Amino acid sequence: MSILDTARPGNVLFQIGAYDIPTASEAIERINQDLLPHQSKFCDDLDHRKLALVCGFGAGKTHALISKSCILAALNVGHVSAIFEPTAPMLRDILQRTMNELLDQWQIPYTFRASPLPEYNLEFAEGTHTILLRTMLTYQRLRGQNLCAVGFDEADTVPKRDAEQAMNMALARLRSGNVQQFYATTTPEGHGWAFETFEKNKKSDTGLIQAKTKDNPFLPDNFIQSLEENYPPQLITKYRLISRWKC
Ligand SMILES: Nc1ncnc2c1ncn2[C@@H]1O[C@H](COP(=O)(O)OP(=O)(O)OP(=O)(O)O)[C@@H](O)[C@H]1O
Ligand SMILES: [Mg+2]
Repeated sequence: MSILDTARPGNVLFQIGAYDIPTASEAIERINQDLLPHQSKFCDDLDHRKLALVCGFGAGKTHALISKSCILAALNVGHVSAIFEPTAPMLRDILQRTMNELLDQWQIPYTFRASPLPEYNLEFAEGTHTILLRTMLTYQRLRGQNLCAVGFDEADTVPKRDAEQAMNMALARLRSGNVQQFYATTTPEGHGWAFETFEKNKKSDTGLIQAKTKDNPFLPDNFIQSLEENYPPQLITKYRLISRWKC
């Protein structure tokens, strides 16, 4: 006999009863509640098929990416989406950690499966949404998937060609659900992938939102001062005062 036979359904996995399962619209309301203006703009924009939030260090990009991924999950119950980080340690140490904290804060029940490849299952009153976690250089494994949304964090830190190919593979997979979107958050690394995609070669289906580090009031008081003391002036301008690409 397994110990699982003695547990009430759901209790082992995501503690049904610890809090009520929200409806999709309740979940979206909770997520929207604490967003900063540039994060709200990014999360509210469901019209552009390709959307980017390009900001300085610590401006709240990853927070915005996770918020958007969960809003898109709520809008696409019963479907599958994916989020990408450049490397596996970034997935584990940055994305998963923030995702767990925020899902708990929003009281959205979830299960996490680490193997064979990581994924979250988010529970809404209407049903479940699966978010696959992947690394940028393994984008080829998306082949054959039917996805509703794909998000990239810090895509400008991988070589331009890889980011471009990963985006093209993702765009070709956006064919399920109610709302389809490719969205990215990144610091601008010169005239790289983000510049080419969202500024230089922008099209009618491309949207770009930019913000500065100081637009995030939740950073410690000495954060910007420390950047100024430790980074060369041209990088400070690039990472702190991003109103347009000028590197
Ligand atoms: N809307 C918000 N409400 C509360 N805290 C926030 C919000 N947005 C961001 N933060 C906090 O601000 C800090 C920086 O946020 P985040 O990690 O998302 O920034 P980032 O732009 O991804 O940083 P990096 O450039 O290092 O990748 C974190 O401690 C995060 O919890
Ligand atoms: Mg980040």
